[in-house]
Amino acid sequence: MSFTVAIDGPAAAGKGTISRAVAAHFGFAHLDTGLLYRATGRRVLDGLEPVAAARALRPEDLARDDLRTAEVAQAASKVAAIPEVRAALVDFQRAFARRAGGAVLDGRDIGTVICPEAQVKLYVTASDAVRARRRFLELSGKGADVTPDGVLADLRERDARDSERAAAPLAAAADAVVLDTSALTIDEAVAKAIAVINARR
Ligand code: C5P
Repeated sequence: MSFTVAIDGPAAAGKGTISRAVAAHFGFAHLDTGLLYRATGRRVLDGLEPVAAARALRPEDLARDDLRTAEVAQAASKVAAIPEVRAALVDFQRAFARRAGGAVLDGRDIGTVICPEAQVKLYVTASDAVRARRRFLELSGKGADVTPDGVLADLRERDARDSERAAAPLAAAADAVVLDTSALTIDEAVAKAIAVINARR
């Protein structure tokens, strides 16, 4: 039987870090579903039509090294509001979730739409100020020309678009465990996530 961990939440709340650590701890496969939308957004910036770009996506497109920019994040959030784009990406995500040996998927709609039957659902969140600070340090550490205020405005714009869209909006599933990482170290947040999963295995 497959075992699926669904991890959702707003941008820069710590989903990616927690998902990678949890997958390594349990030996589960990990899919960062944001990469599907980022890779689609990237190709739209290159001139492709969004639905065609999503349908043409190949696993190797997720490994591009130019997907972590603020420009691509905004493009991703715009294509992610298009129902046909989301529909084109569903089968790949569900097949990944069903793989033998367990899977962790992180995104915005994993617990609500992609894997409503997931054995574990976590909603990872943090205050706007904490999330903006983390993303600012990440982007400026990579040499990006960003300001703290600019990063905060970008996150808020993206979260608003992701939460207010009609198709699979960002939301905690009714049965998700909420994990607020604002005041937690990475190790503390990971330990809490592991404890939630252990309680359901
Ligand atoms: O998680 P990440 O910031 O990489 O996601 C980029 C964008 O992709 C999000 O802002 C959101 O619009 C979209 N996304 C989504 N559903 C997911 C994962 C990401 O709509 N499951």
